[in-house]
Amino acid sequence: MRTLRYSLVCSECDAAYQPNEVVYRCKKCDGLLTIRYEEEISKSRILSFWKKRPLSVWRYVELLPINNPDKIVSLGEGGTSLNKCARLAGDVGLKEVYVKNEGENPTGSFKDRGMTVGVTKALELGIKRVACASTGNTSASLAAYAAKAGLECIVLIPSGKVAFGKLVQAIIYGARVIQVRGNFDEALKIVEGLCLTHPIYLLNSINPYRLEGQKTIAFEIWDQLDHKVPDKVIVPVGNAGNISAIWKGFKELYSIGLADKLPEMIGVQAEGAAPIANLVKKGLKEIEFVDSPETVATAIRIGSPVNWKKAAKAIKESGGTAETVSDDEILKAQRLLAQREGIFTEPAGAASIAGLIKLREIDLIDRDELTVCISTGHGLKDPEIVLKQFPKPIEIEADIKALMKILSTTD
Ligand code: F0G
Repeated sequence: MRTLRYSLVCSECDAAYQPNEVVYRCKKCDGLLTIRYEEEISKSRILSFWKKRPLSVWRYVELLPINNPDKIVSLGEGGTSLNKCARLAGDVGLKEVYVKNEGENPTGSFKDRGMTVGVTKALELGIKRVACASTGNTSASLAAYAAKAGLECIVLIPSGKVAFGKLVQAIIYGARVIQVRGNFDEALKIVEGLCLTHPIYLLNSINPYRLEGQKTIAFEIWDQLDHKVPDKVIVPVGNAGNISAIWKGFKELYSIGLADKLPEMIGVQAEGAAPIANLVKKGLKEIEFVDSPETVATAIRIGSPVNWKKAAKAIKESGGTAETVSDDEILKAQRLLAQREGIFTEPAGAASIAGLIKLREIDLIDRDELTVCISTGHGLKDPEIVLKQFPKPIEIEADIKALMKILSTTD
């Protein structure tokens, strides 16, 4: 078992960098970097390795850019359920809909897939301190993996705009939590500046090693569908790393010959924070960043997504699209997924379901198309948003008569 030989290259101009060089952007053109595997492997050989291991991020270690598979930092990430959602499919008039429940990861979001690889890489590079800016999930995840690895962790979060559960996670895992009076985009700029001038490793999604872990969502979907590729994959989009990573995953399966086609990638953004969806839908030449992004889905409250070029390319290459959804549509989708399918996702995670509903209404998904929605984070991270929407549960005396009375008057 070993990783295929890989190189670190610019995703725009192809300039190459040493894999052990700490660099986040191309020195020639400022483009973001990506990992490229330089060795071929036959489909039967790679399958023979993968078949022996349980479903998890590290099942796919041959296609992950680390040097020593015996020294990985893992909390048991990946291997999340791909739920066949027959009731939801009926509601939206589709034959088959699946929801990939990333809330099942160790810290409750897909970020763990990236952090297991990113923090393993930090140790390989001999790094002692790691940092990120976050709308909540990245910080929760990095704090946990840094704790496991014995690294010092600094997280910057937009003050007052991070769901309670996520803030609590970063605190209990022992990170240095710093609230920034500003939004995520501003916090990311500061932390990038910090990491460029100090020996601190940046683990936001501009870090290409992190995105390699996240591409395993594609590998798992293909595995869970018995080596089939869906027609459409719907992904909530914020900083736009995840949609780019998932697309890379499908492309790698295709280039090895494991997948016989590629899916259409559909990105969904909240109306008040939708620079990529606007770029795609309006066919703009240049992206128009949003200065003051606003949405109830705080995880994707991002106005200047750093990975926008990679995401726009993924959507275009795949023949997919992007859509915007309102806060009301997001919250309605969150309730629907919980009450029809028993899956409790946070508002950002419900954006993919809201997108599914909307795209069906405008006939952009055919009835027979196999569709997978990514539910990106667990609903318990943001309980306040639920409590705000429902009346307080009724209270009675501890008496069966009182109970019977209530049950006879309500359904
Ligand atoms: N869904 C959830 C639950 C998220 O936490 C995020 C991103 C996204 C979707 C969007 O993913 O940025 O790769 O497009 N959260 C980041 C964070 C920004 O700091 O936790 P993306």
